[in-house]
Amino acid sequence: MTTPTQPPTFDAKHYKRTTRDQWDAAAEAWHRWAPTLRSWLGPATERMLDLAGVESGARVLDVAAGAGDQTLQIATRVGPGGSVLATDISPEILAFAAAEAKRAGLTNVTTREMDGERLDLEEATFDVVVSRVGLIYFPDQQQALREMRRVLVPGGRVAAIVYSTPDRNGFFSVPVSIVRRHAKLGPPLPGQPGPFSLGAAGVLEDAFTRAGFRDVRSERLAAPLRATSAEECLSFEKESFGALHQMLSSLDPAGREAAWTEVAVALREFARGDDGFAGPCELVVAVGTK
Ligand SMILES: C[S@@+](CC[C@H](N)C(=O)[O-])C[C@H]1O[C@@H](n2cnc3c(N)ncnc32)[C@H](O)[C@@H]1O
Repeated sequence: MTTPTQPPTFDAKHYKRTTRDQWDAAAEAWHRWAPTLRSWLGPATERMLDLAGVESGARVLDVAAGAGDQTLQIATRVGPGGSVLATDISPEILAFAAAEAKRAGLTNVTTREMDGERLDLEEATFDVVVSRVGLIYFPDQQQALREMRRVLVPGGRVAAIVYSTPDRNGFFSVPVSIVRRHAKLGPPLPGQPGPFSLGAAGVLEDAFTRAGFRDVRSERLAAPLRATSAEECLSFEKESFGALHQMLSSLDPAGREAAWTEVAVALREFARGDDGFAGPCELVVAVGTK
């Protein structure tokens, strides 16, 4: 008699708890690496804000805002007559967003701990909702998109940035595949969260349409992750990428170190001698209208 193969199970509640814990732990590092984030993701963020029509006076909701790098970009753009509410599941990382806004003298930023799938907000109260490399980590992306639509005014826009496909994102897909192999994790099943869950052609656009958005458009942007060296990129990813830590959490310290050693060697592929390091990265920026 053969034993039936058990389908792999996915516990969304457990996954979210771990996500919050890992980002709480990575919060200080994600904040500390803000200059790297700004040079890497800043131009795509500006493009996302252009596509979403974010202008002076707009009321913007920033979902999965992290340490608030893009929150500050938005706050500057909307000016004192506009506002940004930065939300995240991790209170520790959000504390950095609040502190940075205060330090920058921005009085139009507020922060609230919140699960992006359950927005504790009135309907039709925002002109634009954005999420930068956040939606990919949500177990129920449709639920999150429906919530974003609910809180938008009629004619309001949603905009998101996600990674495209693994073959065009070596800076991250190479470490992810090494880490997965060491942690004996299979690839995420279709529909499960993960860094490339919305990156294949048409997937993010289709998700927007299914959630009820119209006039959905997208662009693919090259956004190489530049660093002074492969070692610097390794430090950035090792210290601040909560998703990698989440995948490694089942290993003991020696097992984790073995995985990182292999990642270090693999990242050298993207070193450019005296020209530093440029890790391949391609982003999808999509926008839709309520
Ligand atoms: C890669 S970071 C991006 C942070 C920020 N948007 C940026 O680009 O710098 C992913 C963020 O998603 C947040 N996140 C993951 N799952 C979430 C959920 N269900 N609800 C809200 N935030 C979530 C994490 O806590 C983390 O801050």
